[in-house]
Amino acid sequence: MNHELIVILDFGGQYCNLIARRVRECGVYCEVKSYKTPLDELKAMNPKGIILTGGPNSVYDETSPSYSADLMESGIPVLGICYGAQLMAHLLGGKVETALTSEFGGAQLTVLSQDSLLFDGAKETSQCWMSHTDYIAQAPKGMTVTAQTPVCPCAAMEDRDRRLYAVQFHPEVAHCEDGMLILDNFLKKVCGCSGDWEMSGYAKDMIKALREKIGDKKVLCALSGGVDSTVAAALVHRAVGDQLTCMFVDHGLLRKDEGDSVERICSKQLNMKMIRINAQDRFLSRLKGVSAPEEKRKIIGEEFIRVFEEEGRKLGKMNFLVQGTIYPDVIESGTDTSAVIKSHHNVGGLPDVIDFDDIVEPLRLLFKDEVRKLGIELGIPEELVWRQPFPGPGLAVRIIGEITPDKVALLQDADAIFREEIKNAGLEREINQYFAVLTDMRSVGVMGDGRTYDYTVALRGVTTSDFMTADFARIPYDVLAKASSRIVNEVKGVNRVCYDITAKPPATIEWE
Ligand code: XMP
Repeated sequence: MNHELIVILDFGGQYCNLIARRVRECGVYCEVKSYKTPLDELKAMNPKGIILTGGPNSVYDETSPSYSADLMESGIPVLGICYGAQLMAHLLGGKVETALTSEFGGAQLTVLSQDSLLFDGAKETSQCWMSHTDYIAQAPKGMTVTAQTPVCPCAAMEDRDRRLYAVQFHPEVAHCEDGMLILDNFLKKVCGCSGDWEMSGYAKDMIKALREKIGDKKVLCALSGGVDSTVAAALVHRAVGDQLTCMFVDHGLLRKDEGDSVERICSKQLNMKMIRINAQDRFLSRLKGVSAPEEKRKIIGEEFIRVFEEEGRKLGKMNFLVQGTIYPDVIESGTDTSAVIKSHHNVGGLPDVIDFDDIVEPLRLLFKDEVRKLGIELGIPEELVWRQPFPGPGLAVRIIGEITPDKVALLQDADAIFREEIKNAGLEREINQYFAVLTDMRSVGVMGDGRTYDYTVALRGVTTSDFMTADFARIPYDVLAKASSRIVNEVKGVNRVCYDITAKPPATIEWE
């Protein structure tokens, strides 16, 4: 694809992903590469600029990630951030030292240069965001210090002629007041990007590329009803129409009416060829008597593959399998730099069970917010595009203890009420994930004139940016009160409702 490209060279910093998202927000396409990528390979990508990320190391450790100093002479504009800035100083002969105390959090940035392109339009003093122990004690020859903070003598430096820029602070972090402006200046004023990266262009290019790759062959997509698999399927459908078959396995552990809604949207609204497999009985009978969380997950995973395999075979030879992999998954498992790697717990192993020639991953380069934009572009209804994440094993991990059809129905009803109340309160997009859990606990209550001995439903709502850590959502009491009263009144078998006020860690988002 022919886009203006910025390469983000990953030195293991926790904000690498965030930098990439910010660059995309400026309307510029970017890709993350490991610092191990050779300079020739980078040059061959023809980038308009390169950003060196932060990282946990010290430039003087022999084992620390480094890079060829030739990069600085390559003529490609470079922006070093935090460790990236120190590395630039180090490679060009400046001095980096270790401070007695780390500088972490907000700091007042003072811009020293009137004509720096990087700070064009920035306030003379503003709040920036620091997270470092080493600092640039002396800028390399040829570089001018352009900003400072009370404890950091070189918070930014540049060599305008060689188009080399460095900032000790983190412009990508939301608390950095002029951060977006600084990044935008680098991209547009230094690198000369036009900032025209948008989803309609991406869709057009991707549809063309998919047509070339798929030709007249057949494609299968395992549709989950989630945002990623639906948008991936819709894109492939635009490219090759009915050569695509979507298979939707209803394991009976979906949210209330979800199976019907997925079918309506995909088959009726989006006109995709879709096979719905109603396998509720199969799954529930295999789960009978099982209460250990991992055992439940394992059974569902295995059964899913079995159903997929059996039904897939009936369709004859399928050449490609569509997967809804998105860019954060690629970065997390691909650049070989980052310390934290999330284990993906999707219903797995699909490519192995049927003999596909290849997989198709049309969202591989997109962030979640871009997938949503693309979904809207492709005419997918907002209710689906903004759907909150839902785990592959479904309600099985939200019913503590043994799963029975009655418990599934009870939880579906309680969950639907909670979601409706969140929607009525206009909180859907503020709370990243919210759902009900059926605990395995019953307790005494009183309803009308009678004593009850019924289940406790727990409500969970979290705010998070990456689902790896999360805080419990501060849902207003009156919203919780309404949901609670409706649940005990409308759902038979429930006489008590609790709200989960634990963060992750130490808890997880799901209960199992
Ligand atoms: P936890 O419970 O690990 O969840 O804090 C983090 C995020 O992952 C989702 N989740 C899953 N997603 N298959 C999935 O596709 C799974 O088995 C699974 N388990 C948890 C969870 O809903 C939350 O968004």
